Amino acid sequence: MTTDTIASADPNGGKPGNRRLLDRHKILEKNATLLLVFSFLVVTIGGIIEIAPLFWLENTIEEVEGVRPYSPLELQGREIYIREGCYVCHSQMIRPMRDEVERYGHYSLAAESMYDHPFQWGSKRTGPDLARVGGRYSDEWHVDHFINPRSVVPESIMPNYDYLLRTPIEPEHIADLMRTHAIVGVPYTDEMIEAASTDFRVQVDPFGDVDGLLERYPGAQVRNFDGQPALTEMDALIAYLQMLGTTVDFSTFIADTAGR
Ligand code: HEC
Repeated sequence: MTTDTIASADPNGGKPGNRRLLDRHKILEKNATLLLVFSFLVVTIGGIIEIAPLFWLENTIEEVEGVRPYSPLELQGREIYIREGCYVCHSQMIRPMRDEVERYGHYSLAAESMYDHPFQWGSKRTGPDLARVGGRYSDEWHVDHFINPRSVVPESIMPNYDYLLRTPIEPEHIADLMRTHAIVGVPYTDEMIEAASTDFRVQVDPFGDVDGLLERYPGAQVRNFDGQPALTEMDALIAYLQMLGTTVDFSTFIADTAGR
C-alpha cells in the first residue's frame, strides 16, 4: 500500500497534525535540491553545536599533576619508537574497561599523552599495550628482549632490534626536535632547549651532575639503561619505555577534581 492510498483512504479533509507535517515533509522528499539544502542546514546546525564550544574552552584536557614533557633522551627514544614502527603492533591507550584495567593498570588519561606529537594511542594490538610498561621490567630484560624477544618470551613474534644496541647516538638534532615540539605547544623553554645536549648525555650517567636535569624534568630516571659504555639508541628507547605511564601518582589522583 503506498502512502498515496493511505492519504486518499482518509475520508475527512481535516487531517491530524502529524499527518499534515508528513505531507509537508513529502515536499522535501520529492525535491532533491530542497532536500540537499535542508540537509545541509541540519548538518551545519549540528556541527556548530558540536564545534563552537571548543572555541570558548581554555583547554579540553584537564591538567594532571606529575605530567611533564619528555626529557631530551626520552624524546629521542620516542623518535626511535616511531621510526621503527613499534606502533604498528603496540597501542598506548588503556581503555576504561575492566579487563584492560586489570591487565595494564589505571586507564589512560588524556593528560598523559598531551605532549605526544603525534599521539601513539593506536588500536592495533599484535603485542600488549605499552602505555604503562614503565617499571614493569628491568632494563636488562628490555635489552635481552630487543636483542631477541624469543630469548625471554619463547612464543613471541616480535622482530629483533639488536642493532639498536650497536647504533651510537649523538644529541646533535635534539635541540631542533625540541624546538619543533615547542611550535606545536609542548612547553619546552629556551633554557630546556639550551641544556638539551647536556641533559641528553647526563641521563645515562649516574655519576654526572643531574640536578639541572631533574629540576627541568622531575622524576626523570638516570642510569645506564643498556648497560654498556657507549650511548646508543637502545639507551634512548629504554629510557622512553621505562617512563611510560609513570608520571601520574594514581594513589593520590582523583579523577573528578584533578586540575580544577
Ligand atoms: C610485529 C609486531 C611487533 C612489533 C613491530 C613490535 N612488537 Fe613489541 N611485542 C610484540 C608482541 C607479539 C609482544 C608480546 C610477546 C613478547 O613479549 O615479546 C611484544 C612485546 C613487547 C614488550 C613487552 C610488553 C609487555 O608488557 O610484556 C615491549 C616493551 C615491546 N614489545 C616493545 C616494542 C618496541 C619498543 C618495538 C619497536 C622497536 C616493538 N615492540 C615492536 C609485537 C611487536
